Amino acid sequence: MIQTIRGFRDILPEDIVIWQAIEKTASKLFEDFGFKEIRIPIMEKTELFARSIGETTDIVEKEMYTFPDRKGDKLTLRPEATASVVRAYIQHNMGASDSVQKLYTIGPMFRRERPQKGRYRQFYQINAEVFGIESPYIDAQLILILNELFKRLGLSELKAHINSLGCKECRPTFQKELLGFLEGKKEHLCENCLRRMDKNPLRTLDCKVPECREALKDAPSTLNHLCDKCKDHFEIVKNVLTEQNVEFTVDKTLVRGLDYYSRTTFEILTTALGAQSAVAGGGRYDALIKELGGPETYGIGFAIGFDRLAEIVAQMINGEDVEVKDGSSTTSEFNSESDFMNLLSPKVPDIFIIPLGEKAIRLAYMWTSALNIAGIRTETDYSGRSLKSLMKRADKLNAANVLIAGDKEIEDNALVLRNMKTKEQFFITTDNPVEQIETLLNRV
Ligand code: HAM
Repeated sequence: MIQTIRGFRDILPEDIVIWQAIEKTASKLFEDFGFKEIRIPIMEKTELFARSIGETTDIVEKEMYTFPDRKGDKLTLRPEATASVVRAYIQHNMGASDSVQKLYTIGPMFRRERPQKGRYRQFYQINAEVFGIESPYIDAQLILILNELFKRLGLSELKAHINSLGCKECRPTFQKELLGFLEGKKEHLCENCLRRMDKNPLRTLDCKVPECREALKDAPSTLNHLCDKCKDHFEIVKNVLTEQNVEFTVDKTLVRGLDYYSRTTFEILTTALGAQSAVAGGGRYDALIKELGGPETYGIGFAIGFDRLAEIVAQMINGEDVEVKDGSSTTSEFNSESDFMNLLSPKVPDIFIIPLGEKAIRLAYMWTSALNIAGIRTETDYSGRSLKSLMKRADKLNAANVLIAGDKEIEDNALVLRNMKTKEQFFITTDNPVEQIETLLNRV
């Protein structure tokens, strides 16, 4: 039997309920904050990602699905959305209609990483980007939005890690100092770090190899080298977050795995899926739009790992102890009345029509179609099985009501509608069952 390829997976109907509820909650929140949805292609010219994410990043060096199309153009399945959103912003001159653009997009991304829990080769991101705002208030607001979304999903314990990487004014002096430090630690660094020292020394701070971590624990931090403007910018981000009661930790090692960032970067970390991993990450990319051929425009955004978020929410709903962060754990404290929980309530049939006999099956088909069109979730069964076995199926589907339509009931012009919970019964005539059912279910 042909199966899915490694790192690619199906998301089955029983899991989709959570995905849809998260997606609705996120879209509603984004739209309330003035974001508009944008949909972008799954494939782009390789050059777009190489130039934006950076030639020496793990993503571009070893994780992209890149291939020539039949004409020889080099194409890549998108490993992230920011580059494409920036391309679309430039291509459609979006800044012309309003200098501020807030965009969100949800969809699959592709990275050829080693698959494990919470890490897939096709994974999904919920992505938000803001163009045209330099003010640190928007940096704080994006972190506030993430915080609010997680709260609405019942994950109040997740905390943001934030850092500032400086700008093109202050980064070079920092890089020089870092390089000096790295020179002195050369014999303790892995091959990757040694290679990156020349091209992108900042990335060494993010190395996961334990010996490198140890060697770099006293490495200089960008925070001690910020220019006055970047310092003030970061101070306001922190002050505003504190004033709005958004918890955060300043984390000087947070350099992110993509090269386009400047100033504020942030991640939401969790240990809920085993080893510590990020459920969301983002930051400012003030130079990227110009680098990709657009006008000089400020940019900032984040992406949430949808697969990871859905897995954490599922664990919470199932009442499992969820280790949220830094070893602290929390159990599910879902408010069953919350909007999010309402979105999760299973969609069961309002009515299950039980047809008994050939004539009844044809009528059941007609009525089911008419009820479905009228917005009443209705199922029936064409197998011709007995009343007992069809009652069993109705039970399995958790149908709220059954409508029994045997040849005899049809002849007597008296169908039986039974509420499966209260066992109350109503008689319905065969001439206009849809209207009668709408009235009985209070749908008119
Ligand atoms: P990123 O940190 O590469 O940032 O990815 C964001 C999130 O996507 C991660 O925190 C993680 O939750 C999820 N993710 C990444 N790779 C995988 C994977 N293989 N399997 C499952 N989940 C994964 C970006 O992509 C930036 N474009 C974010 C951004 C937007 N920055 C500014 N605007």
